[in-house]
Amino acid sequence: MSDDATSVFVNPLRDPQDRRLPRIAGPCGLVIFGVTGDLSRKKLMPAVYDLASRGLLPPGFSLVGYARRDWADQDFAQVVHDSVKEHARTEFREEVWKQLAEGIRFVQGDFSDDVAFDQLRQTILDLDRVRGTRGNHAFYLSIPPRFFSDVIGQLKEHGLTDPKPGAWRRVVVEKPFGSNLETARELNAIVSEVFPPDSVFRIDHYLGKETVQNILAMRFANAMFEPVWNANYVDHVQITMAEDIGIGGRAGYYDGIGAARDVIQNHLLQLLALTAMEEPTSFDAKSLRIEKQKVLESVVLPRRLDLATARGQYTEGWSGGVKVPGYLEEEDIPGSSHTETYAAITLGVETRRWAGVPFYLRHGKRLGRRVTEVAVVFKRAPHLPFSATATEELTQNALVIRVQPDEGVTMRFGSKVPGTAMEIRDVNMDFAYGGSFTESSPEAYERLILDVLLGEPPLFPRHEEVEQSWKILDPIVDYWAEHGKPDTYEAGTWGPASADKMLARDGRVWRRP
Ligand code: BG6
Repeated sequence: MSDDATSVFVNPLRDPQDRRLPRIAGPCGLVIFGVTGDLSRKKLMPAVYDLASRGLLPPGFSLVGYARRDWADQDFAQVVHDSVKEHARTEFREEVWKQLAEGIRFVQGDFSDDVAFDQLRQTILDLDRVRGTRGNHAFYLSIPPRFFSDVIGQLKEHGLTDPKPGAWRRVVVEKPFGSNLETARELNAIVSEVFPPDSVFRIDHYLGKETVQNILAMRFANAMFEPVWNANYVDHVQITMAEDIGIGGRAGYYDGIGAARDVIQNHLLQLLALTAMEEPTSFDAKSLRIEKQKVLESVVLPRRLDLATARGQYTEGWSGGVKVPGYLEEEDIPGSSHTETYAAITLGVETRRWAGVPFYLRHGKRLGRRVTEVAVVFKRAPHLPFSATATEELTQNALVIRVQPDEGVTMRFGSKVPGTAMEIRDVNMDFAYGGSFTESSPEAYERLILDVLLGEPPLFPRHEEVEQSWKILDPIVDYWAEHGKPDTYEAGTWGPASADKMLARDGRVWRRP
């Protein structure tokens, strides 16, 4: 009997906290570096407001922006106000805003400005006094990694990283965590020299998505999936993250990085880890990381990278009825760029559970539509007591976790077509979040910022995972760099022909989500 209330055993490793209580952050503040960037405007500031409006922030919560702009506190508060009005998930309420606005401050300076960091220190001390933040502050680095060293060095030098007794200081690091194993190690060295491991929160915002966390709930809270979740029944797994947008104004970041490093190294390998991992002993950070790390360490690359990977670059085409330029015609992209905007790779997971099951990962910009999903495709039934024509339209059973949009889960299986003698065709059984739950899901950044303020690390990858993920990806991008330029695909289509050939060689096809 495993029901907690009736079990005679108590597992001391399990967290005794009642998870149904609302999790409310204690007295604290958040300092954001890079407040003029897109991420801050579209995601971070709105998420802070949404948390405040859900009553999950302490009354004296403070938000400090740090940037070069010549702004006063009120100017920054206006920027936060506008971004909240435009992007927040929850309704705008004057009383929530008023309380939040009282704790908004701005510090002007660049990342090597001693005077500005002194001022930041003073601002934080004032907030502790006036707003009761009690020395608890998180520093969010939403800035290019080349500035990490400066900012972290300055924080240290100005005494901002050493909390007074009983208080905490945390650092939040946005991706990219380096651009290969070597640079990731350098970054980790910079961060860990100043902050102890438990105070470092690396953001992979996919882990903050409800549907991604639901992979674990589905697998480990139910009896019916796990028995077939292995090489005996699973034929292959397809993990897709397709976007219809192009690179927008991000040429400076994107060119030279490309689709594989931007998305596969982090989001898709994390999805693979959650899909393939063994049951953790609990959902605390340590147990989860151990299981994810085991999967990442078991990942193997195919011998023929030329046949088992594909990459492409979009050319002019149509997206949502609008003509869009090709990658090489995008602003600030050099006409000779070899950066891939589409990447597909085949990976194996060498464990007893997954031996011989290929995991196909693909991501691209300017594809047919925006969709992220994990599709577990099952083997055909070992025997079909029907005529060949009866099952002509029957494909393989599949369980599809729809991460976004249309969040939910689809199960595909064969069913008799009514009125026929015996004709069998694929049908879908659907779970949609909208149909089963009345509340809308929090944004990933709401969850993650709250977890930082609460000091809860399970949804943040540790540096070992980050490094292991680079170990998987580096040989592929190095191989590509040495072997000419990417194939092309027209914007609005589903990627280069080479990606279809990659699967066709294995006798399989990509799903058309
Ligand atoms: C980011 C990538 O990590 O994720 C972007 O850098 C990408 O290139 C974005 O567009 C997608 O996030 P989401 O949550 O919209 O799927």
